[in-house]
Amino acid sequence: MHKKELAEQIKAGKWDILLRERTVNRLKIISQEEIEEIIDEITDVPINIARDISGEMFKLYFIAEWIDAFEKAKLARNPSVLEIASGASDPIPQALEIYSEGGGSYVSANLNKILTEGLKRRTASLEIEVKVVEDNAVNLEKYIEPETFDVVTFQHAINDVVQTIIADRKGIDTVNNDWFDILPAMIQGVTEYYRQGKLREVAYDDFIDLIGVCWRLLKRGGYMIFNTHVYQLDLDCGYPLELYGSFVPLARDWIATSDLELEIIDCDGFDPQWWLFVRKP
Ligand SMILES: C[S@@+](CC[C@H](N)C(=O)[O-])C[C@H]1O[C@@H](n2cnc3c(N)ncnc32)[C@H](O)[C@@H]1O
Repeated sequence: MHKKELAEQIKAGKWDILLRERTVNRLKIISQEEIEEIIDEITDVPINIARDISGEMFKLYFIAEWIDAFEKAKLARNPSVLEIASGASDPIPQALEIYSEGGGSYVSANLNKILTEGLKRRTASLEIEVKVVEDNAVNLEKYIEPETFDVVTFQHAINDVVQTIIADRKGIDTVNNDWFDILPAMIQGVTEYYRQGKLREVAYDDFIDLIGVCWRLLKRGGYMIFNTHVYQLDLDCGYPLELYGSFVPLARDWIATSDLELEIIDCDGFDPQWWLFVRKP
């Protein structure tokens, strides 16, 4: 979605339901140009959340973007959505709640126990059907029938999946530890392989196995949608920007060079550096 259009919608109150009353009141007194400035800041590289309302605006921005992505993919009005590696983040279930007016169904595959509890808390009041599979997404076929989902989403999750592949190789427990305690070691592991030019060699097969599982769980005509952005926290943990800011191009390249029957789709209004749409024909 164009930033100007979103700023107009925010100014007109379309997204007030996602904001605290105090933020709604602040937005009433600032100009549309200033709202556009805030959107520029929260979509900067790295994202800039210096203002007190930036965190809420950041979340609103991604919920609005995912609703737009669902529209562009022409999803059914009550879609069945799979999210890979949600952690405790809820923009996908929140977007689905609005898109489907509470009628959709959502499954998250998520390994880390503490983050899963956070996701359950954040989604408890939603009307959509929510289920969390607390296992590696590569095992999803143990729990779910083929061709179940209209869309599979990776909301800022390509890095999480790659980090988990490397953590498993290095014997780091990503299930029971606090994710943020082990983050520096995971990033160090990924960065070492990247700098040695070996990231593809060590992570490609596991990554493509997971995409293959998603392919089988996706209905014909369904989409996998990936996005990513750049947090300062991960750069501070040592991620090289040229890698951390390029996980979407990396996934596009790895999928394009796989044998999977997937079409890479250009989607108007979505920057290919940060968004990837692939369709199962
Ligand atoms: C930081 S959180 C994810 C945040 C979320 N993607 C976001 O930024 O909006 C990382 C989560 O991904 C999960 N994860 C990574 N690879 C996974 C996999 N193959 N299957 C299931 N969960 C996975 C981890 O267990 C952890 O809970």
